[in-house]
Amino acid sequence: MNIQNELLSIIQDVPNFPKEGVIFKDINPLLRDPVAMKKVIAEMVGFARELQVQNIVGIESRGFFFGLPLALQMNLPFIAARKKGKLPGIVVNESYNLEYGSDSIEIQKSALNIGERYLIVDDVIATGGTAKACSNIIEKSGAQVVGFSFLIELAFLRGRDLLQNSAYKFPIQSLINIT
Ligand code: PRP
Ligand code: MG
Repeated sequence: MNIQNELLSIIQDVPNFPKEGVIFKDINPLLRDPVAMKKVIAEMVGFARELQVQNIVGIESRGFFFGLPLALQMNLPFIAARKKGKLPGIVVNESYNLEYGSDSIEIQKSALNIGERYLIVDDVIATGGTAKACSNIIEKSGAQVVGFSFLIELAFLRGRDLLQNSAYKFPIQSLINIT
């Protein structure tokens, strides 16, 4: 079985969660499976090595499940991109749109080193709004986004286009592509 099908057999589809008409991808069975999780992290390590990444950014909260083990495996710093108001000290903030209203995420300024190479990690890319906001934080601080790594890409929502809507096409890894 290829890795996508193996992971799809572990992740559970939950219809009508968190609301009517949505099929939620429940990754908790994957988190409970250390053998499968190690395969996921190994795939992400391969991608990150190619990009000569120097820092791993995980997006709160489900991005932490993948970003931190990836960073540890690679002996790299892990940086938490958190929802607003959670981080002390000087932070760099960026807002993004939700279905209703907007939210914002933040990274500590002390974690953003000018010129260094950052990989952004999350469990899912849907519209791409969250990952794009994270990318904007890094770039406006003078650091470099070198790619994105997702467990699941909801390709029909075209989040990839939002991330790549610039002169430069960022490398984007997704282990599971839902069309
Ligand atoms: C989910 C998911 C991604 C984001 C993707 O997070 O974990 O982070 O939405 O959506 P987008 O591509 O449309 O921006 P959520 O905000 O539900 O929070 P959580 O990770 O804390 O559960
Ligand atoms: Mg999330």
